[in-house]
Amino acid sequence: MQPVSEILNPERMEALRAKIVISDENEAAEREAERAHTVAQLVDAVTRHTPPAHRGDLAPCDPVSMVDEWANATGVQEAQRLILAGPTGTGKTRLAWYALQCAVAARCGNVSTAPDLRLDDTNLFRFVTMIDLVRTPGEAKGPYRFLVIDDLGQEPAATDHAKETAAAALWDVLNYRWDHCLTTIVTTNLGGGNVPSWREGQEPELATILGRYGDAVWSRLQPAQVVKVLGSDRRLAT
Ligand SMILES: Nc1ncnc2c1ncn2[C@@H]1O[C@H](COP(=O)(O)OP(=O)(O)OP(=O)(O)O)[C@@H](O)[C@H]1O
Ligand SMILES: [Mg+2]
Repeated sequence: MQPVSEILNPERMEALRAKIVISDENEAAEREAERAHTVAQLVDAVTRHTPPAHRGDLAPCDPVSMVDEWANATGVQEAQRLILAGPTGTGKTRLAWYALQCAVAARCGNVSTAPDLRLDDTNLFRFVTMIDLVRTPGEAKGPYRFLVIDDLGQEPAATDHAKETAAAALWDVLNYRWDHCLTTIVTTNLGGGNVPSWREGQEPELATILGRYGDAVWSRLQPAQVVKVLGSDRRLAT
């Protein structure tokens, strides 16, 4: 048996300690590399699902900077909701895909949560239009870490019944997301559409959302980071 004096020999102890530090460092580096790899794969999954018209780099502008800030926000309620609002064709849907990528990159990087994310994770995100959401609410209701509801207000609303059905479906999805602290990105041209006030850059009447879907829906969309996406219709410019 090894004498105790030899085990406790200061030089030997120092050497052992150094070994432990090195192995801790190695482990930390390995975990960091694994985390970076996981995040890259998750961002790649979003990129692969991004439709061709909404791919590519975005030139710097105020809405892009605001989306960047939102994606990197941590620990605040606003980080759970982003509303991209503006008239037709200004780039809201494109920004929503961008916001999704940025948020996945920025928020899935936590070492303690990365192992929870399976690479084939079908619960990472869903991108639905409001028309889809009303038609098949079950598609949007689920533990998706990120959900985009594109074109709020575009669903049929010619009758009271249609309006109530849409409001109920939206309430159900938003209520689930609020309760589970899940991130939701909404695009809409409610509150102005092509009304000149949007074009002039005045405050959009987001209260239109409240008027159309009621207090309970509005409340579950708050607090939110609102980004106005203004300008001319990019489709008409091409
Ligand atoms: N910043 C941008 N730079 C270049 N092209 C852009 C930009 N933003 C959007 N586009 C392109 O302009 C077209 C319209 O954009 P998008 O569909 O995002 O508009 P939208 O605001 O969602 O319109 P709508 O309200 O009708 O849904 C798309 O082909 C999109 O790729
Ligand atoms: Mg759109």
